[in-house]
Amino acid sequence: MTAVNTLKDKKTFNVALVGATGAVGEEMLKILEERNFPIKTLKLLASARSKGKKYSFRGQSHGVEELTEQSFKGIDIVLSSAGGSISKKFMPAAVREGAVVIDNTSAYRMDPEVPLVVPEINPEDIFKHKGIIANPNCSTIIMLVPLFPIYRKAGIKSVKVATYQSVSGAGAKAMHELERQSREFLDGKPVTREILPHQIAFNLFSHNSQVKENGYNEEENKMANETRKIFHDEDIRVAATCVRVPIYRAHSEAIYAELKKPLKVSEARELLSKADGVKLVDDRDKNYFPMPIEASGKDDILVGRLREDISADNSLALFVSGDQLRKGAALNAIQIAERLIR
Ligand code: A2P
Repeated sequence: MTAVNTLKDKKTFNVALVGATGAVGEEMLKILEERNFPIKTLKLLASARSKGKKYSFRGQSHGVEELTEQSFKGIDIVLSSAGGSISKKFMPAAVREGAVVIDNTSAYRMDPEVPLVVPEINPEDIFKHKGIIANPNCSTIIMLVPLFPIYRKAGIKSVKVATYQSVSGAGAKAMHELERQSREFLDGKPVTREILPHQIAFNLFSHNSQVKENGYNEEENKMANETRKIFHDEDIRVAATCVRVPIYRAHSEAIYAELKKPLKVSEARELLSKADGVKLVDDRDKNYFPMPIEASGKDDILVGRLREDISADNSLALFVSGDQLRKGAALNAIQIAERLIR
């Protein structure tokens, strides 16, 4: 990979969205508009199936083009979210054309040459890129943004986490599947299955990624490996149980963190009340805590249920909800792009 970063001298940018018609791609389009990203030209790329499909951006209609290796001439920034195999196949061509790729797939995340970035945590890594910057897995981002202020203050030895992951993480078609199955179930019809491996409406199941030799599925292994890379900490140990639940778009997580130094719950609450990217929702009297329905469409990760983990020394328990499509994917990628051009 050759690094051709000409972004510094420009004020507006030619941007390509790869996977523009997907759940994350459509969210990216919204966020680019909301945050007034300095775009000179915008290219929407997807498969041949979507050629000609139209999207409105800043009041103008943009047609979707078919992604090919020739798509990247003159492009400055590529935001890619069409799946790992598409990234592996096409992103080297984008880098050859001099674009910087922010890749929202697992294709390059663990490549030692590729920075893996959450802007609230390791923004300095952005500038080590050689053409590609990877956006972490959604469950990892949603866990690490609230853990980072605690990590910085008290250190973290290990984390145990159980996720409650929405169907948006499996793409737009999985979101439609939840809706269709819910209707079928309530209408007393047989529930049909096309995308997800099991019925999701009125059910939940272990995350639909392959179970590896260590007994953890890919999603669970990503949470462990990506945490070490983002924190630059080879010693932190993460054991995850990832579960798909019948929720549209925000992921929730029950997190237990074993700390290196003592930290009072009140101190953790104080830290989190000031942390970037986090909103405290922690009202014990009203039994009011983070909920995916309230995290949906929001930029902040909601964090609450802060308490001592009474099963271990120096341990904290918390519960978080974060919008998988925004901070878990599209927003984080665009925040990386914003830092890159700043
Ligand atoms: P398309 O809508 O044309 O299939 P999601 O994760 O929500 O399912 O979205 C996947 C995204 O990746 C969509 O934009 C999809 O486009 C795109 N995509 C899938 N396969 C290809 C391909 N072979 N070439 C380009 N884009 C692809």
